[in-house]
Amino acid sequence: MKDFYIADAARFENQVITSSFVVASKQAKPKKSGELYLSLTLVDRTGQLDAKMWDNVSDFINVFDQDDFVKVRGLLNKFNGRFQLTLHKLRSMQDAEVEFDDYLPRTTKDIGRLWQTVADFVEGFRNPYLKQLVKTFMADPQIERAYKNAPAAKTLHHAYIGGLLDHVVSLFQICDLASRNYPGIIDRDLLLTGAFLHDIGKVHELSFARSFTYTTRGQLLGHMIIELEMLQEKIVQVPGFPAEYKTLLEHLIISHHGKYEFGSPKMPMFPEALMLHYLDDLDSKMESMRAHFEREPGAEWTSYNVSLERPLLNTQRFLAKLKEEAASTPCASAVAASAGDLE
Ligand SMILES: [Fe+2]
Ligand SMILES: [Fe+2]
Repeated sequence: MKDFYIADAARFENQVITSSFVVASKQAKPKKSGELYLSLTLVDRTGQLDAKMWDNVSDFINVFDQDDFVKVRGLLNKFNGRFQLTLHKLRSMQDAEVEFDDYLPRTTKDIGRLWQTVADFVEGFRNPYLKQLVKTFMADPQIERAYKNAPAAKTLHHAYIGGLLDHVVSLFQICDLASRNYPGIIDRDLLLTGAFLHDIGKVHELSFARSFTYTTRGQLLGHMIIELEMLQEKIVQVPGFPAEYKTLLEHLIISHHGKYEFGSPKMPMFPEALMLHYLDDLDSKMESMRAHFEREPGAEWTSYNVSLERPLLNTQRFLAKLKEEAASTPCASAVAASAGDLE
């Protein structure tokens, strides 16, 4: 266990701390004098922290790289409202010194149970080809390990170990509900297979052994192209897999970002593809909101949310006053009841 976690920064303001982190980014920039300083982003499982080294940079610049574990000493203070560490000393750590769980955020849910939820849905598929296809993916031990550990995104949503699986289980549940609302035009098994596959390429797009970064292959191809290749490899293992379904799955994959400017070469052109796009977008945005409220629990209005490009109102907090009033006045209690769960 580390002594200091980034989430506890407020308790250590204006103190010199010694702790260890993963280097998520490392840049050397020139000062006004022309000398170099180091600008780092340090992470642990609770968050990320900007760090600067102003002096003796040449002693340290070559002793570590991005994605390394480092032990540092420095002064923690606030700059423009954000915590920042001014580094005095730094050394890289050996893997043997490192407890990996300290550094990467992880879902609080039970990963085994999430995987079982997916398996239960698939067991209920009526389409034998789609059922066997998803089972073939799930039976591949390499895919299973990666799927259980991958984050769903680098920073925007579900950016934690198990995030991909968490996202897909949530998506299965809302796809299941929404497909019942449109009987006759949604093939539920096709929609759920699309949900299972839509981000599976992240297992190769993102590296997540240390910090979350793009692999070269992910950077150059993106997860959708990687997914087409993964699909091809597994489909040949399902005898007689209909060509029509293969084409539909390929379209579900490449259209799920919904727009050309978000990287989809085609816009969703059939009901399951349209539904997958909107529900995927909905699930990632709801998670982004939930995580932001969790990071700033005391605030009615949050700080600016980068992925949604707006600050957010925490309605539960905003309406909490009503609940307090309800305790004293009978009329307000009806309003509070209609506002639903205020906790
Ligand atoms: Fe995606
Ligand atoms: Fe997604």
